Amino acid sequence: MNPIVALPEASTHAVRVDHIFFVLLILSGLVMILVFALIIVLAVRYRRGSSAKRGPLPEIVSREFEIGWTAATAFLFIFLFWWAASADLGSLSAPANALELHVVAKQWMWKAQHPNGAREIDALHVPLDQPVRLVMTSQDVIHSFFVPAFRIKQDVLPGQDTEIWFKATKTGVFPLLCAEYCGTDHSRMRGHIVVMRQEEYAKWLAEQPEGDDLAHLGAKLFVAQGCSGCHAEASSVHAPKLAGLYGRTVQLSDGRQVTADDAYIRDSILQPKRDIVAGYQPIMPSFAGLLDDGEIQELSAYIRSLTQENNND
Ligand code: CUA
Repeated sequence: MNPIVALPEASTHAVRVDHIFFVLLILSGLVMILVFALIIVLAVRYRRGSSAKRGPLPEIVSREFEIGWTAATAFLFIFLFWWAASADLGSLSAPANALELHVVAKQWMWKAQHPNGAREIDALHVPLDQPVRLVMTSQDVIHSFFVPAFRIKQDVLPGQDTEIWFKATKTGVFPLLCAEYCGTDHSRMRGHIVVMRQEEYAKWLAEQPEGDDLAHLGAKLFVAQGCSGCHAEASSVHAPKLAGLYGRTVQLSDGRQVTADDAYIRDSILQPKRDIVAGYQPIMPSFAGLLDDGEIQELSAYIRSLTQENNND
């Protein structure tokens, strides 16, 4: 724990954020002291009846001095902006080896799913010293995933995935809060993050009841919702094949090119008439209202798994 902050610094990001916070605090404190000192000194010196000189200002500062201090403060501001912006942007793009967990928010709970399918509600068990990437969506309104001890906060939106990542540096239990007013029980939409040593996390994970993993659930939905009728390899309907699709650049009929990521897959399921793949007819029906956000994550995971299997061949 940082001796000055009453809040544990439990992630790599927390340390960066606190450094920025204290530097800004000290800098603005110094500026404040300077301004107040000048106010007091000048008020006393030029008070009514004092014998201080009140004529026009003498030319005491040189042009070089003027340019110098203006440039120095400008550079200081640009540096502060760069420092804070890079810390903030860095919390958005996770390292490639990050463990990917899925979070679905709803009024008023946090549901999480681990890569092996283990699920939990209002709790998130994570390993120590391992980057963890959260892919989050909401089933209803806007929520915000906030872990004060990690200094991370990210809005969770319906109809869209948002991401954040962290690397926990301390074991323990840390509060998880919802930081966006989301209805009556917003203040009770709490949970906790349990940071465990890596071997303990592996043990914990193995003890969880067998859940189907996301891709597996997605494969079942793919058949149950009739997607396989057109998109299966052997289908007679002329529909884009999905194996190897994930991450590839797709040529659309209107000449645009898009990358087949989770957002593209979500849009293709919900608004299939919007981005038509070149060479195909706009015959796919929309599944808006038929699938919830959790199910779309499952289908997306299934489509991604088709690409990973391909790469392994
Ligand atoms: Cu969810 Cu506030």
